[in-house]
Amino acid sequence: MAASVIDGALGHPPVVFALYGHPLVFAYPPFQLYQAAMALKLQVKTLPGISAFDSLLVQLRIDPSVQGIQMYEATDLLVRRRPLQPDVPCFVWQIGSLETVIFSKAKSKPERFHRFRNYILNFYPSNHEVIVLHVSDSRAHPPQVIAFPIGEIAAYAEDLHQGMTLYIPPLAPRGVQDQELADKLTSLQHLKMISFHV
Ligand SMILES: C[S@@+](CC[C@H](N)C(=O)[O-])C[C@H]1O[C@@H](n2cnc3c(N)ncnc32)[C@H](O)[C@@H]1O
Repeated sequence: MAASVIDGALGHPPVVFALYGHPLVFAYPPFQLYQAAMALKLQVKTLPGISAFDSLLVQLRIDPSVQGIQMYEATDLLVRRRPLQPDVPCFVWQIGSLETVIFSKAKSKPERFHRFRNYILNFYPSNHEVIVLHVSDSRAHPPQVIAFPIGEIAAYAEDLHQGMTLYIPPLAPRGVQDQELADKLTSLQHLKMISFHV
């Protein structure tokens, strides 16, 4: 993909490389493009787009400021054994492409999710209810929403396609750890101490 864009930019500039969603969210070709463009002294301008992330927040009615957000690429989560925080809402991207970087639209076998399940159970109980989503703004393609206990993910293998994201809700909200600071949040005296003019 990146090579075709560079060919176009060298042969008949300017060119537009339109990707769906946000061009820098879970997308590799733009970063290859940046490197090639730098080496060839080509200019690149990147415009932000509306990501599946934005639509997922709407579908699930989540405000990331409330409990935070953690999100990982499914395979990277396993390869790096990234630690999860069970009290923070979690998005796992590319769940349908787990354990490979080779593009394929073939349906998954249950075996594909065994390692993932075992890893996730280090952080969440087997009966913790999760949701796999394919969001859509189009009436022609209603959203796909599949809910199941995380321990049963392998049973849904054939339904989990490459366009889906796994959402793991938090187990329980995190309690206040710094009560002294929490008590000061509504104090005018404290605001005067930490700012110049109130
Ligand atoms: C290669 S990434 C591209 C993401 C895109 N750049 C964006 O900003 O939405 C593909 C992954 O994005 C997520 N994704 C894309 N479209 C989605 C949708 N309609 N609903 C849920 N997740 C989606 C899935 O995790 C999918 O595996």
